[in-house]
Amino acid sequence: MDKQTYSISFICLGNICRSPLAQGVFQDLVNRESLEERILISSAGVGNWHVGEPPDPRMQKTAEARGIPLRNRAQQIGPGDFRHLDLILAMDQSNLSALEQMCPRGMENKLKLFRSFDPKANGNLDVPDPYYGGGKGFELVFDIVSRTSPEILKFIRSKLGC
Ligand code: 4NP
Repeated sequence: MDKQTYSISFICLGNICRSPLAQGVFQDLVNRESLEERILISSAGVGNWHVGEPPDPRMQKTAEARGIPLRNRAQQIGPGDFRHLDLILAMDQSNLSALEQMCPRGMENKLKLFRSFDPKANGNLDVPDPYYGGGKGFELVFDIVSRTSPEILKFIRSKLGC
């Protein structure tokens, strides 16, 4: 029998800054642990403004400086995507509200805030939107995502028993 797989998707507003970074950082971690056939990783936005676009050049630059290539093209999440996903992580409260509104009944337990796994969240449960700010915002997003990703991986390993 094939081994069980687990599908995770990272969700932000536009799918060009925060969630593509989370996808890239998490994929890098999963590859290094040789779990890429067990854990399937995607990202999407709740909005459709940037569908088809590569990640924001400022986010790409921040990620590439740390050895993380971002290769996704922006896509929008819809209610039909929930069924094949096991865990849907919203980058902020507003993204979570949008997801709750489209969530098919009975699938609410798949939804969580990304920073609910952040060991240093201290009650700040939003990954701040860097789009309208300066370079420091992108660095902050990178720091939050890189320290939180290993905790998410631990959670998924416990679900897969590996
Ligand atoms: P993201 O950032 O949600 O982290 O991808 C944003 C990208 C685009 C916009 C807002 C936030 N926008 O307003 O177009």
